[in-house]
Amino acid sequence: MHEVFESATIAGISLTNRILRSATHEGLNDAQGRPTEACIKLYERLAKGGVGAIITGYVGIMANGKSPLYNMAMLDNDQQLPAFKTLVDRVHAQDTPVILQLAHCGRQTRSKITGFPTVAPSAIRDGMYREDKPHALNDSEISDIISHFTAAIERGKKAGFDGVQLHLAHGYLLSSFLSPHMNKRTDNWGGSTENRFRIVKEILQQARAIVGDYPILAKINAYEKSADGMQLEEAVVVAKYLEKYGCDGIEVSNGIIEDGFWFSRGKFPFDIIVEDNFRLKHMPGFLRQLIKPVLEKQLQSPQPYSLFNLKSAEQIRKAVNIPVIVVGGIRKLSEIRDIIENDRCDFVSMAKPFIIEPNLVQKFKSGAQMESKCINCNYCVIGIEARPLKCYYGRTNSFRRSSETDHF
Ligand SMILES: Cc1cc2nc3c(=O)[nH]c(=O)nc-3n(C[C@H](O)[C@H](O)[C@H](O)COP(=O)(O)O)c2cc1C
Repeated sequence: MHEVFESATIAGISLTNRILRSATHEGLNDAQGRPTEACIKLYERLAKGGVGAIITGYVGIMANGKSPLYNMAMLDNDQQLPAFKTLVDRVHAQDTPVILQLAHCGRQTRSKITGFPTVAPSAIRDGMYREDKPHALNDSEISDIISHFTAAIERGKKAGFDGVQLHLAHGYLLSSFLSPHMNKRTDNWGGSTENRFRIVKEILQQARAIVGDYPILAKINAYEKSADGMQLEEAVVVAKYLEKYGCDGIEVSNGIIEDGFWFSRGKFPFDIIVEDNFRLKHMPGFLRQLIKPVLEKQLQSPQPYSLFNLKSAEQIRKAVNIPVIVVGGIRKLSEIRDIIENDRCDFVSMAKPFIIEPNLVQKFKSGAQMESKCINCNYCVIGIEARPLKCYYGRTNSFRRSSETDHF
């Protein structure tokens, strides 16, 4: 039987317990996408707070895949290396591993921010960002993206990260290749699951030739909202392919941005949506109230808010022999104990709970607290579009920092 607070390994990465910080975009980077001192301090606090390993917020691999969120981290050229190396060294000084999450945002970004048209496997307009139709990538552009991912994996190794995690979830570029909802191609990159997986296979194979047995993990969607999106049965096949082509561990999530609050479930944060959206902010109050139910429907967060990927993760775990991490609505130590001690998954990860309490694992371990203080108000998710990450603790008319969050 496994225990939560025992040492464990993922692909040779040593953790002091089975709880990871799931990737959380922080926006604590400079204009070039280099982690700032504030970012490093946050990671140090997480490490000192007892987390088993930290997965970074998503880090960009090339300019046209930059996030629309505030100041994404970028590891798209060698000049970025010293800043990332400093971050890694400071986390390692706290005896905590740190895993680099790599992403290309595909059609889920804004041309105004990247300076380029959005790109995707197929020219299907994104329902949330509402840009023009994305440019459907051709063969040589796909090869270029594969090379950029491979180069970023190599940079991750050079910077000293303990491993990388490919972001294959939430509708970003690689996830959009996997999803039949976003990939309607009829060539080698679309159609069958095998063809839709091809871009990931190429990245894994090309990267392995360069970085050897360096840990490469992946975060995948077990399911998506639309009927023609990724569903569990196919996600199991994707997981098997990942194992076959050398992936070292899988984190299980769900949903794409267009789905609304599916992957980060909780309340509908209308006040901060209004505050951060220029059009809504300057709209007469009565119109805003009319729009609220429409938006609420579009961005709905389905129940349950807790453990919403666990059943899928268990199914995926049964199909593979590499470690499976489950994320999504995990808030209580009792839930984590159940997952680990009853061998339902190998590891758990959390995102929002560590925003309000970077030292949550320490509190769990000492018995000082049994449950996260996060109330799933989801202000943090919207707030990162316009400013660095913080916990608003459900504030409805003020974006002042909560006294509960002492980490910024
Ligand atoms: C503010 C915020 C930023 C996030 N940034 C990322 C990210 O960069 N990469 C990623 O894979 N998931 C990201 N997520 C999703 C989380 O990793 C996680 O999958 C999701 O929030 C569900 O876990 P939770 O219920 O513990 O918050 C983010 C979530 C939040 C709330």
